[in-house]
Amino acid sequence: MGRIAFIAGICLSAAALVQAVPFSPKLHKNTALVLIDIQNDFITGSLNNARAPVILPKVYQLLDDHEWPFIVASQDWHPIGHVSFASAHAGKQPLDTVNITFLDTPTKMEQQTVYADHCVPGTWGAGIEEGVQTRLYYLEGYRTPVNYIKKAQDHSVDSYSAFADNQYHRFTTLNSELTLHRVDTILVTGLITNACVRGTCIDGIKLGYEVILIEDATETLSDEIKASTIEELEGWGVQVMNLTQWESTNPTRLQRRALKEL
Ligand SMILES: *[C@@H]1O[C@H](CO)[C@@H](O)[C@H](O)[C@H]1NC(C)=O
Ligand SMILES: *[C@@H]1O[C@H](CO)[C@@H](O)[C@H](O)[C@H]1NC(C)=O
Repeated sequence: MGRIAFIAGICLSAAALVQAVPFSPKLHKNTALVLIDIQNDFITGSLNNARAPVILPKVYQLLDDHEWPFIVASQDWHPIGHVSFASAHAGKQPLDTVNITFLDTPTKMEQQTVYADHCVPGTWGAGIEEGVQTRLYYLEGYRTPVNYIKKAQDHSVDSYSAFADNQYHRFTTLNSELTLHRVDTILVTGLITNACVRGTCIDGIKLGYEVILIEDATETLSDEIKASTIEELEGWGVQVMNLTQWESTNPTRLQRRALKEL
């Protein structure tokens, strides 16, 4: 009897724990929330951008008010001396361009813009912004799968898209994981609009996904660059809308989670 009561007790506390999970059945079915490179270096670090922090409340809202069957968080993840670092090319300054040959086609060239060193593994700058990372850890604790895509780890080729590098030399695991989770729609947010967000949106379209860009959850260096990128992406078939618009057509029954640990 004692043993049965003990087991029943465990089951009851397990049931209580399950009930305490502030989740409803999955609401945004077949949809993945994609957070592109929301890393310290792109906000206040070596490639700091005064416009970047405005996206954070929108990203928090997407994490706090919605339930996702799958979340993707990409991170630029460069080895020291990466091809995208000005410091790796004699005489080059940030925002200069260099010509590099394709890894698998030596007769083919591409132009690579170079930047200050950024997103080196183990540095603070490579980390995901604290408010986003805390929420991801919290959600992972409630069994929301979060796929951290580390990209552009190859010394000699850069990767804007979270799906593949700029030469399509090597693909990440993203497409296969989205397929595994039966995702057909990706909701894209993050930094910066005309580089890694753009690359991910275009590859998403090429791979057959429905791609929605939340325009107030992405930023870049100026209104002009943002507007021309959005126009180009709409040409590719990306649906561009603000968070209010998206939420009005995708209502959630989920109450805002109170993240006591924040
Ligand atoms: C890169 O290639 C372009 C086009 O072929 C050429 O005009 C330019 O001078 C090259 N730049 C450098 C730095 O070699
Ligand atoms: C979102 O877009 C709609 C339609 O264009 C617009 O009326 C609304 O003001 C926008 N909201 C925000 C917060 O930008």
